[in-house]
Amino acid sequence: MSSVNSQLRVLSGMRPTGRLHLGHLHGVIKNWTTLQHEYECFFFVADWHALTTHYDDPLIIESNIWDMVIDWLAAGVNPSTATLFVQSRVPEHAELHLLLSMMTPLGWLERVPSYKDMQENMQDKDLSTYGFLGYPLLQSADILIYRAGYVPVGADQVAHVELTREVARRFNHLYGREPDFEENAKAAIKKMGKKSASIYNKLRKSYLETGDQVALEKAQALLKEQQNISLGDSERLFGYLEGGGKMILADPQSLLTKAAKMPGLDGRKMSKSYDNIISLRDEDDEINQKIKTMPTDPARVRLSDPGDPEKCPVWEFHQIYSDAKTCAWVQEGCRSASIGCLECKKPVIDAVVDEVEPIRERAKQLAENTGMIKSVIAEGSEKAREVARETMTDVRQAMGLNYR
Ligand code: TRP
Ligand code: SF4
Repeated sequence: MSSVNSQLRVLSGMRPTGRLHLGHLHGVIKNWTTLQHEYECFFFVADWHALTTHYDDPLIIESNIWDMVIDWLAAGVNPSTATLFVQSRVPEHAELHLLLSMMTPLGWLERVPSYKDMQENMQDKDLSTYGFLGYPLLQSADILIYRAGYVPVGADQVAHVELTREVARRFNHLYGREPDFEENAKAAIKKMGKKSASIYNKLRKSYLETGDQVALEKAQALLKEQQNISLGDSERLFGYLEGGGKMILADPQSLLTKAAKMPGLDGRKMSKSYDNIISLRDEDDEINQKIKTMPTDPARVRLSDPGDPEKCPVWEFHQIYSDAKTCAWVQEGCRSASIGCLECKKPVIDAVVDEVEPIRERAKQLAENTGMIKSVIAEGSEKAREVARETMTDVRQAMGLNYR
């Protein structure tokens, strides 16, 4: 796996909402399946996050977990390149969440846009709980515990990644200098080998003494190439380079897909609660039926009435599924009333059927082998836990909590 960038880790999670639909596929999963070839990836089921809104009926969570993991694999997420796990199997997330909660101002959480929105949208549920307010901070712990550089998510999650960056910076500012930072940094330099160590020392000296920016950049590039040092040591050396302390928690960036907001059958965002989804396990005739009955530009009452694709959710599907030639055919045919809406929907139906069919069939097979699914998660959770433990050792040490 020489193409994997060892310095950049990718982490993403999904609440266990059960079977997935095209919105998940185009908004997030496609991003995952590309990234898994390029980076060290961790993808997990955020079951504790589900509890923040479903604390009154936790029993549905379990079947939702397995249904969702089956769809991940069916859609191409590869457990031999990516680490797949369940959040609650890595209790270190809860410990980091607790520690971060000590230093996170209440206002930061109250200001997150999803907080008031969700509370207002879910009027039937009392969401004025401690856990729900902490939802984005638990998410920050999920991300920071793996020192992830990239977080591929849907557009609605960007604010949570932003919060995570602020929390990481505050943490590093408060606890950045380990008591024995200097010694640890020097030991880490040795681990790079003689040649790299001497180049690093020269470049660092030149930057610290003369502010030589080029030397700084060269040294950073040198660190990025190192294969033999741990992420923890790497962060020490990045910090040491600039004369500061260790960057204990790395600040992440979000990554969006092109179709981060996949439209639903009615043109609103695709979502189970709007009842406008095409599921990854829909049969061909269900897909046919759903697309055939999709609303179109209301101006097109008769075949001879011209329409405007911009006012039609079918056009949004064409933009995702059709090539330039078909898109031009739609634009022309709709505006000149030379094609009918059913005719226009045909290429979309074909494309969606072609996309869903193999996923659905793989999911059916996987669903018969839940033992395999469970062992993928068991193994992934163990692996994730090792990384999480390593971070928590550094975090406890930085905060002076490593007394035994
Ligand atoms: N809040 C995310 C969602 O609703 C799920 C999630 C939890 C997550 N923790 C995360 C996503 C960490 C990315 C990184 O989809
Ligand atoms: Fe929509 Fe196509 Fe009908 Fe135009 S022709 S209104 S784009 S379905």
